[in-house]
Amino acid sequence: MADARIVLLPGDGIGPEVIDAASQVLEAVGSEFGHSFRTESHLIGGIAIDETGDPCPSSTVAAAEDADAVLLGAVGGPKWSDPSAKTRPEAGLLHIRRELGLFANLRPVTTWSALVDASPLRRDIVDGVDILFYRELTGGIYFGEATESDDRTTVSNAMTYSVHEIERIVRMAALAARQRRGKLTSVDKANVLAVSRLWRSTTDRVMREEFPDLEYETVLVDAMAMHLLSRPKDFDVVVTGNLFGDILTDEASMLPGSLGLLPSASLGDGGPGLYEPIHGSAPDIAGQGIANPLATILATAMALRHSLSMPDEAHAVETAVERVLDSGMRTADLARGAPYVDTATITAAVTTEIHPG
Ligand code: IPM
Ligand code: MN
Repeated sequence: MADARIVLLPGDGIGPEVIDAASQVLEAVGSEFGHSFRTESHLIGGIAIDETGDPCPSSTVAAAEDADAVLLGAVGGPKWSDPSAKTRPEAGLLHIRRELGLFANLRPVTTWSALVDASPLRRDIVDGVDILFYRELTGGIYFGEATESDDRTTVSNAMTYSVHEIERIVRMAALAARQRRGKLTSVDKANVLAVSRLWRSTTDRVMREEFPDLEYETVLVDAMAMHLLSRPKDFDVVVTGNLFGDILTDEASMLPGSLGLLPSASLGDGGPGLYEPIHGSAPDIAGQGIANPLATILATAMALRHSLSMPDEAHAVETAVERVLDSGMRTADLARGAPYVDTATITAAVTTEIHPG
């Protein structure tokens, strides 16, 4: 793929700042490896509401469908948080995930040796953690039926899964486990929720019939929240539903030490993937130029690997990030009181590692 087409969706808050960093990284990769990346920006989130009234205009979906990969910054902010508003920035993100059929959200959680002491957890617990979460992304309570009584005193959101939705995410996660350390952990709440009992019986069957070679376990979500902090090194690939995956991966971000380090890839059956940091728009630090761009830069590496078939290029980006962290350079979120650099400085350090110029 010599001439890859990348759609950028900067969004809100620090989104534009971290997407700008990702563009510079793409440029460095292009110079070093002789590719040309054609990037174009489109609207999503609060800024899209301001400009068009719609958090995900159809022109954004159409551009994304035509792209090889989509890089997204973040959506949301206090300006659009009025609970009685007609729509919200987050609805735009859910819409594009669903429209592109991105049912699998991959969230790798690995610790960086230079940063083990940035974690609030003990070194012996976090050093060497390497977990790959598969969060189901287009079903569950995020997309179930929502109701509201006429007097608005009672509301509900349904958590719904079909056998088909469970099978396809479990298969994808199990295939990944087979390429890694051969263990799959499925997380549910089958002791209470009927939807989780379907999740569990379906997962049990897929694993028994199609992946008997893998080590397989099921863990209740409340217990998993605890095990992630007490024995995170016991997990390899973890598969779970939309809401549990959302919560557990924010928790897991404290293993490497900051939400500012975690990338994610959202994939479907073919078609472009969508790549984003797992952090939000961080309105408290937006516009100050101090956001940590590394999660988005690492998401760009995932795009190179999963959507653009450029594993060497992806590896070069990841190695560059590792070298910069090894050199001691830190953004504010990782500094723990020590001196820190701004977004532009750490981005330049990464691009120089990739393409010394
Ligand atoms: C995430 C975010 C989103 C989610 C929000 C912004 C809709 O928290 O990507 O984890 O809940 O999926
Ligand atoms: Mn989240």
